[in-house]
Amino acid sequence: MRLENLGARDGAALAALLEAIPADPPYDVALEPADPVAALVREAGFEPYATTFTASRAIDGLPEGEPAEGVRLLTYTNEMAARYEDAEFDALDGMAIFKAMGRPTGYSQGAGYGDFTVAAAGERIIGFCFTQVPEGIIWWLGVVPDQRRRGVGRMLIASAARATRTAGGTHLLVEAEDTPEARGFLTALGFRIRGTRELLLRR
Ligand SMILES: CC(C)(COP(=O)(O)OP(=O)(O)OC[C@H]1O[C@@H](n2cnc3c(N)ncnc32)[C@H](O)[C@@H]1OP(=O)(O)O)[C@@H](O)C(=O)NCCC(=O)NCCS
Repeated sequence: MRLENLGARDGAALAALLEAIPADPPYDVALEPADPVAALVREAGFEPYATTFTASRAIDGLPEGEPAEGVRLLTYTNEMAARYEDAEFDALDGMAIFKAMGRPTGYSQGAGYGDFTVAAAGERIIGFCFTQVPEGIIWWLGVVPDQRRRGVGRMLIASAARATRTAGGTHLLVEAEDTPEARGFLTALGFRIRGTRELLLRR
């Protein structure tokens, strides 16, 4: 359970707040480095497990690029679960957020929530992108390693942009695990990096 916009004036207030959550741990928080609640959260037993960065851009002017040869974009259906889980593992193995979520992550049952698009080469799923619309928040994006640098990630972002625009949104926002490849990718697509957040988990 992700606790968004967490605030507490002291440890007792935080403890009371956690006590009142109508769900069992694990609890997950994402905090900006200067957030005063960070120290309280650590004292309450939350452990850091990943750093993310936030990046955003307007949909207008997004570079479309050439579609990758032989790659189709499909709307995800839950019947694709087995093939999707293979792609998710290949794309995200070794990443801290994926490790902390455990398998299955839940996205394989995500058809019908937001815009969930996969990239397929023949029968194989090689990339995926889950976007909350109309807000344009991209929560889950990956391309399998042997298909990278072919423009598949760019196709998925363009698809998220179309879905967001159709739903009435104007911007895309991504929160991604902070790696050089994710920064390189989003910067190349004209996203502006807005800041970083530390993710902490109480099991
Ligand atoms: C980030 C990721 C989705 C990129 O997918 P991709 O299909 O390789 O991306 P594209 O081929 O569309 O790349 C478009 C442009 O982004 C930039 N780019 C992509 N990968 C990059 C990298 N590793 N380093 C620097 N720049 C990169 C390049 O400018 C590239 O254009 P070019 O190949 O013509 O130079 C992929 O590396 C991935 O799945 N990483 C692990 C999961 C992850 O980080 N997810 C969050 C992503 S925000």
